[in-house]
Amino acid sequence: MKILGIETSCDETAAAVVEDGCKVLSNAIASSVDLHQQTGGVVPEVAAREHIRQISPVVDQALADAGCQWKDIDAIAVTHTPGLVASLLIGVNTAQTLAYIHKKPLIPVHHIAGHIYSNFLEREKPPVFPILVLTVSGGHNELVLLKDHFQFEVVGETLDDSAGEAFDKVARMLGLGYPGGPAIAKAAESGNPEAFQFPRAYLDKNNQFNFSFSGLKTAVRTAIIHTTEGEDMNPRQLNRRVVNDISASFQMAVVDVLSDKLIKAAKYLKAKEVHLAGGVSANQLLRQVVSEKLDKNIPIHYPKNLSYCTDNAAMIAGAGFFQAEKGMTKPTLHIEVKSQSSLAS
Ligand code: KG4
Ligand code: ZN
Repeated sequence: MKILGIETSCDETAAAVVEDGCKVLSNAIASSVDLHQQTGGVVPEVAAREHIRQISPVVDQALADAGCQWKDIDAIAVTHTPGLVASLLIGVNTAQTLAYIHKKPLIPVHHIAGHIYSNFLEREKPPVFPILVLTVSGGHNELVLLKDHFQFEVVGETLDDSAGEAFDKVARMLGLGYPGGPAIAKAAESGNPEAFQFPRAYLDKNNQFNFSFSGLKTAVRTAIIHTTEGEDMNPRQLNRRVVNDISASFQMAVVDVLSDKLIKAAKYLKAKEVHLAGGVSANQLLRQVVSEKLDKNIPIHYPKNLSYCTDNAAMIAGAGFFQAEKGMTKPTLHIEVKSQSSLAS
């Protein structure tokens, strides 16, 4: 079964063709990241306008790269929540129109389900459930137990910021640009992770699998203010060594919390596999530390390709296949678009 996936929840305009949930035939992405670099973050109106410009060429490219014509496509899967509403609407309206014209069933996919299914792309061995997934990006930060295909239990989530959001805001304070994750990881390569003692929010017993990164963000802000002697937080006053040390110390604090909670939850929930997903799963230190700490009998998976970590449409087409197998396609053309919605609802 060949599914065309469409993803426009944030600043990436993406379309892909995936066969049977795993075989990626094409994965086209047009990013408007260079526009958002000028503003230090995503401006929703700018992102939506770029989606309008890019969506048709990107869909055409996905079909051409896959060597497919419309008659070869069995269904269209599209991200319908959560995300920026104006951005989601472009993808959903496009998918609805194409489904109507070409008479294809529609599969509305939850964005986080898409990230979770990024680990099934190019996977050869059958999965062993239950699988514990740490899915971490700019917009979400969750621990999800996948009991079977499309049976999600959210066992932990952030009480405030996601780790990706913290990476982006800290990078901005340090003058490292957007997106922050790759920039901080690069600066951290030349920094000392013990130079600054940043807090790790492991939280109380009732929140043992929940996360909080707002305190860490504030601690970095305070460190910058002290380093610049109370001046106005102008990153140009920070020397390169301090930027690298703050980056390394911050990254270590995030990775300590994410990995500790993941390992503890995997043990407690008797997970048979552990998966990392979402933009932050591209982080090499996170992958390394989780691999080192995890029981060697539990296999760890992260997306086979770095482009499957950040937003892409292959993961939406992949998730759409497993969702369709459960009979969860939409016979109607009315898809509800929501900026917020839980995976478990
Ligand atoms: O999944 P994604 O593309 O978008 C959302 O669903 O939000 O994730 C983007 C996030 C950004 O916050 C970005 O800074 C972060 O993923 N990210 C990273 C890395 N690459 C991207 N964070 C840490 N290390 C990285 N190498
Ligand atoms: Zn995402």
